[in-house]
Amino acid sequence: MSSESWSATATSAAANIEIVPIGRTHLAGFHAAVDKIAKERRYLTMLEAPSFTRTRRVVLESLKAGAVHVVAVVEGEVIGWCDLRPKTAATLRHSAVLGMGIVAAYRRRGIGSRMLATTLELAWAHGIRRAELNVRVDHAPAIALYRRFGFVEEGTCRNYINIDGVDYDALLMARLAP
Ligand SMILES: CC(C)(COP(=O)(O)OP(=O)(O)OC[C@H]1O[C@@H](n2cnc3c(N)ncnc32)[C@H](O)[C@@H]1OP(=O)(O)O)[C@@H](O)C(=O)NCCC(=O)NCCS
Repeated sequence: MSSESWSATATSAAANIEIVPIGRTHLAGFHAAVDKIAKERRYLTMLEAPSFTRTRRVVLESLKAGAVHVVAVVEGEVIGWCDLRPKTAATLRHSAVLGMGIVAAYRRRGIGSRMLATTLELAWAHGIRRAELNVRVDHAPAIALYRRFGFVEEGTCRNYINIDGVDYDALLMARLAP
């Protein structure tokens, strides 16, 4: 398939995209999506997904602990996720850490915005009062997205991420419940 027709397929499929809470049937697809994006070696703190068994356990345990986790599904395939996992310390449980990703072919089609909107709405309804994240200072698309959703920069974490021997600073960004 040419890159043009692949892109057209991705666009028309994106119209049928569903944003739904993660369920057991999505776990394998979620694991595959995380692995694909981690292997881009650019955006995530992991460079490959943990094993499927570990991923499954972490997701199911975090849901029990109050996490919000949605996936974007197109024609049965998980192509992205957004989650907010509450911290575990007794004094920090109102605060949750955001993670998200969309496989490359589906970026810049509004899916990240839809997932983030749904996740934040569910999080506030679940009593989460602070959402935070770290993002590489040179990751302009993600920073623009987070700013559009009311996240503000609270500081710079110096030499926060090391990929292939290079250190990168990261921003700490957060927003509070309305
Ligand atoms: C960051 C990411 C989640 C954005 O998702 P997305 O579906 O592409 O974002 P959207 O299409 O909803 O875009 C929303 C806004 O984000 C910003 N944005 C998204 N992609 C952008 C790009 N390539 N360049 C500049 N701004 C961009 C824009 O403000 C955009 O609004 P606009 O299209 O009206 O200008 C996606 O690029 C991704 O999954 N990247 C790899 C994984 C990752 O980086 N995860 C986050 C780690 S902190």
